Amino acid sequence: MEFAARILGTGSAYPEKRLTNDDIARKIAEFGIETNDRWIRERTGIRERRVVDVKNSAETNSSLGTEAARKALTMAGKTPEDIDQIIYATCTQDTIIPSTACWLQHKLGADRAWAMDINAACSGFIYGIVTAEQFIRSGQARTVLVVGAEVLSQFVNWEDRSSCILFGDGAGAAVLTQVAAQSPRRLLANHLLSNGSLNGLFLIAAGGSKQEVTPECYHQNLHKIQMNGREIFKVAVRTLVECAQQTLAKNQMTIDDLDWFVPHQANIRIIEAVAERLRFPMDRVLINLDRFGNTSSATIPTVLDEALRNGRIEAGQTLLFDAFGAGLTAGAVLLRW
Ligand code: ACO
Repeated sequence: MEFAARILGTGSAYPEKRLTNDDIARKIAEFGIETNDRWIRERTGIRERRVVDVKNSAETNSSLGTEAARKALTMAGKTPEDIDQIIYATCTQDTIIPSTACWLQHKLGADRAWAMDINAACSGFIYGIVTAEQFIRSGQARTVLVVGAEVLSQFVNWEDRSSCILFGDGAGAAVLTQVAAQSPRRLLANHLLSNGSLNGLFLIAAGGSKQEVTPECYHQNLHKIQMNGREIFKVAVRTLVECAQQTLAKNQMTIDDLDWFVPHQANIRIIEAVAERLRFPMDRVLINLDRFGNTSSATIPTVLDEALRNGRIEAGQTLLFDAFGAGLTAGAVLLRW
């Protein structure tokens, strides 16, 4: 018997606290740095994002992930005991050790599952889905929970106006299940790639084993995000187009076979440039970055979950997930819903 994998349910969760562009403008004015709502909207498409309120709430990466997972399980008609495996995509884990997957396993009560984190930055959910698919196809797992969740607000350098405006916190989850190999509703193809030579484009330099956070590092904000936005923009457009085309080709499909394009939500101008190069209409592209910003590994599962719950995606439609992230990492997944 040969197997395939299918997404059976999705869920999402966000912190309560909203941070509008005007809120950021006020916040960074304290450092003598200027920005404004119009610049942010026109250059990124972002109006607001959600952020955890570390002083006043118990929200953490794993608490958001757990809430998203519970909703995904309900949609899938599964319970925590059904889960064989938990894959948690994040680059902003609750703690360095143990993994955020283990924090979530405990909160969810998924006692039968084994659990691990994946760090592929913004491509993490795609890498997680493809990893889950391999365990399902080999017969080693029947039900896998994949979570993409981030608390990037804790790593934003509020003195860098080109990056602090982009990011938000949130979590998305998907429950994958085993189906027959030729089942019509299944994952169809994928394409993954990494290019470690581009490691400096998006970096948190201190806080790992290579560089502890000394007072000097702290004052230089080396424990926070450093980003070359202009260079990422160019690489992102090129890479997203490549991953989309390669994935469609692996399944002998063209862009005309696609019903929905589900890109990583980094910047509306990146998404528009990719859609234009692929010759795909923007009204078939799922977008939530206007309200949530770039939530890294959470963008694709959250925007997917929103469209499913709004009834936009119908059974039998063809979807393409497409993401790039720090590393550089990138990947796409083609599926029939
Ligand atoms: N407010 C006002 N002015 C600003 C701001 C701001 N927030 N940020 C930059 N500017 C200024 C710059 O200083 C520059 O001024 P100058 O012309 O006087 O030098 C001007 O605006 C233009 O700057 P650019 O960097 O050319 O602006 P660009 O149009 O490229 O937009 C941005 C910058 C939004 C960062 C864009 O390059 C981008 O989105 N890049 C991709 C970033 C990304 O995706 N990061 C995450 C990737 S990895 C991951 O997802 C985890």
